[in-house]
Amino acid sequence: APPPRLTVHPDPETLLRATAAGLLTAVAEAQSARGTASLVLTGGRNGIGLLAALAQAPGRSAVDWSRVDLWWGDERFLPDGDPDRNHTQARLALLDGLPLDPARVHPMPASGGPHGDDAAAAAEAYAAELAAAAGGGRDAPAVPSFDVLLLGLGPDTHVASLFPEHPAVREEGRTVVGVTDSPKPPPVRVSLTLPALRAARQVWLLAAGEDKAEAAAGALTAEDPFRAPATGARGRERTLWILDEAAASRLPAS
Ligand code: 6PG
Repeated sequence: APPPRLTVHPDPETLLRATAAGLLTAVAEAQSARGTASLVLTGGRNGIGLLAALAQAPGRSAVDWSRVDLWWGDERFLPDGDPDRNHTQARLALLDGLPLDPARVHPMPASGGPHGDDAAAAAEAYAAELAAAAGGGRDAPAVPSFDVLLLGLGPDTHVASLFPEHPAVREEGRTVVGVTDSPKPPPVRVSLTLPALRAARQVWLLAAGEDKAEAAAGALTAEDPFRAPATGARGRERTLWILDEAAASRLPAS
């Protein structure tokens, strides 16, 4: 996988507006090439902020939203509709205002549903949903070919709900895992694993603010994803690191 390509914007608002425009272009390109577009959403200030920027983007109507598949990279394992769920925040920021095909929107399972409070069971169910969407046969890939997979960057270099030195970072055999001891609250989460993240054509990582400068510099030069999970989240075709100047302020002068 090619190394990350860096884009630095002056401030968080510009970063989100520019990334929203770029994402609409990527979706339109995917739809013209393959008839559909597949996106993987994330949570956090920038993950949700990007959706809010899309809701305001003039080019929003250039996309046929009924032919967009939406997946999640991670989710807080909370009851459906809980305000802290990434899915709830995505609906409020953008999704409820789009003519999406509900059959193509794949939120991760909520707690209290068919899997009760068992995050591992919820993870297995989502893995099965991903495999089915990928074709399901013996030789089919384990996840669909995502066009753009979005990630935020934690101050500890976590991405999705894969935290430094957590066993979930080393998971290679499964595409989705339950995490019950997340250092970032809430503690119980469901997350794609690095192999699933790496199945994406493009991975776009968003980071803004001084509090991400250390993590951005560390992850960009780190070798070991176990210690810096962000460094393991490379897309097959392209990895974009989209930062504002504050988050880029500790990068080694290139
Ligand atoms: C979550 C997110 C998480 C987030 C990072 C960055 O569920 O919390 O998926 O991975 O993207 O923690 O969050 P901020 O952009 O809010 O710093």
